[in-house]
Amino acid sequence: MRLLTCFTTFALIGLLVAAPTSNDEDDDKIVVTKEFYIKEFVKYKAEHDIVNLVVPLNSLNFDESDSSSSESNELDSDIILFFVEADVQPDGSRVDQGLYVLKDDKATKILDYGRDAAASGDDSKKAFFGAKDGLYVYNPKTNSADKYGPITDSIIAIDMEKLGEVIYILTEDRDVYKVTDNGEKKEKLDDVVKPKQIVLDFENNLYFFSDDNVPYVRTADGVKKIEGLPEATGTVTLIKPPFFLDNGAPVIINNKVYLMYSNGSSEATDFEFQPKAIPTALAPEATLVQYYAYDKKIYEYNILALIISSLVEEITDFLKKQATEINNFASKETNLKRKLQPSEKSPKIKSHA
Ligand SMILES: *[C@@H]1O[C@H](CO)[C@@H](O)[C@H](O)[C@H]1NC(C)=O
Repeated sequence: MRLLTCFTTFALIGLLVAAPTSNDEDDDKIVVTKEFYIKEFVKYKAEHDIVNLVVPLNSLNFDESDSSSSESNELDSDIILFFVEADVQPDGSRVDQGLYVLKDDKATKILDYGRDAAASGDDSKKAFFGAKDGLYVYNPKTNSADKYGPITDSIIAIDMEKLGEVIYILTEDRDVYKVTDNGEKKEKLDDVVKPKQIVLDFENNLYFFSDDNVPYVRTADGVKKIEGLPEATGTVTLIKPPFFLDNGAPVIINNKVYLMYSNGSSEATDFEFQPKAIPTALAPEATLVQYYAYDKKIYEYNILALIISSLVEEITDFLKKQATEINNFASKETNLKRKLQPSEKSPKIKSHA
């Protein structure tokens, strides 16, 4: 039952996001509490806070030509995941503790001062890292990071376009640059003013917010304010969208999840976090396998496995019920038969049994 509840909750980050709140106020609000961080789902325990989680949606994980994955247990996800550890100071600043790759259940630190990762959404195996001393590219063969291009800026966030190799970096000076030509060319985006966070949707629209905590979107038509969001009283967190969402991205404001669209509109979802259950990082982008970091641990929610186990639970319940009914029926029939059973003393009634 717990799994089922858990499934319905976590499927929602992906799926409810696809079906935003109807006007029914009595609609179930989905509130994530501490109980949703289930021990059995811990994938990795860290020494430090986990401040970033990135699941590549390209061939690093979803390789259609890769037949080896079908041989392994389908429910056993062998997803490659990048994550960043840091010590978060009381003032919110971070002391770098390294960027890791989690592969085949083994975590490897690949950059001491890595701060963020991004991967393409095409069929390549490209993934890049932003670090204190510039840009790096993932080397899947050696499971390590190689320097990429001449950029040496101190990078605090990175994202990339779905196709190809167009990278956006946010530097410690809070400037955003678009990086192209194998990391050689760097172009400042002057219309993205001093953002604190950036995220790209799958149509290459860039969402960001600055000191006023109001999210904006930068599209081919310029920069627009996202309308209809509440005023942020606490932190604002931009989230990489689940893969099926093209022109939008989720954002957490006042612990509630909203969807922002590239046309500047927004809507509320049914999804919210209890203040004590806010993850330190989350990666819903793969949708069917989602990752949440909480209290220095990474939790994996394999939605497919949860669906199947909840189905198994349901089928088991169903069969148990059937068995009880058959038993009941059988005993009723026995009683009935007993009643109908001609006693030796009344030979007039014929039994069909
Ligand atoms: C903005 O885009 C969203 C998602 O595509 C759509 O549902 C909404 O109706 C659009 N709003 C306007 C004002 O065009």
